Amino acid sequence: MPELEQALAEVAAEMAERTDRGKVATYIPQLGKVDPKKFGIAAVTNDGRVILAGDADQPFSIQSVSKVLTLTLALGKVGDALWQRVGREPSGNPFNSIVQLEHENGIPRNPFINAGAIIVSDVLLAGHQPREAIGEILRFIQFLADDETIIIDREVAASERATGYRNFALANYMKSFGNLHHEPELALGVYFHHCAVAMSCRQLAMAGRFLANGGRNPATGHSVVSPGRARRIGALMLTCGHYDGSGDFAFRVGIPGKSGVGGGILGIVPGVASLAVWSPGLNENGNSKLGSIALEKLARMMNWSIFAP
Ligand code: DON
Repeated sequence: MPELEQALAEVAAEMAERTDRGKVATYIPQLGKVDPKKFGIAAVTNDGRVILAGDADQPFSIQSVSKVLTLTLALGKVGDALWQRVGREPSGNPFNSIVQLEHENGIPRNPFINAGAIIVSDVLLAGHQPREAIGEILRFIQFLADDETIIIDREVAASERATGYRNFALANYMKSFGNLHHEPELALGVYFHHCAVAMSCRQLAMAGRFLANGGRNPATGHSVVSPGRARRIGALMLTCGHYDGSGDFAFRVGIPGKSGVGGGILGIVPGVASLAVWSPGLNENGNSKLGSIALEKLARMMNWSIFAP
């Protein structure tokens, strides 16, 4: 097995050469401005090593990767009561699909599709003004990454709000079933802002450390969630983290992962490392094209899989 430093450098060099980089998301106009040639990768190991390659220190819009972190926060607030309002099944549909909501009475299939994440935002809004809920989410992310320089990109949030007709449709629809407790406008304000958090691969991999280490920050020993909850979040990432591409990601990469339309993916190798990769071009399922290929190669080189003996 190669050293991790060498494996990361090799993968980054190979990805830099590739011309089949997928398509940058343009439905949020601000995301369409990103250079598709960017590629970064970071690994933070449970024994404290931080290994970087490519553009690993350049912040990008984490988009749906943030849904793992808001889910963690919401579970901390309401625990298993969350599952009365959101399911835990893969949707087999695109991330912004509305079709299942009618059959399933406004209860989204899982917390990672947009509808599910909007419910999670609604949970985080309870007892707060949107501004306070957004502040709480940002502070939680800064705490996880141990980095107070992490910010929300207000231009991305505004760009998404201005074009977010589908998300407004999803929120209004769930409101009609009584599953959304606040006004759609307010829950979406929280949702758009957590999707607009900007982080580098280094910061994202740092934030994911607790998931690779049974719920505890390996650097400080502080517990973020219980070991059981860390496992269950990992299970949701594996089964739902890549939307209708989740089965393929599990098949090819074999570790829990969560993607975002900004081109980022957080990957977790339980007991070993937290990984983050960024390549803005997306595949047909809206997941980072080279990001998934890079993780597949890295996992193979390092013999990482949750199914490995
Ligand atoms: O709501 C949206 O469409 C975006 N803020 C997030 C979507 C996303 O990242 C899907 N991931 N691949």
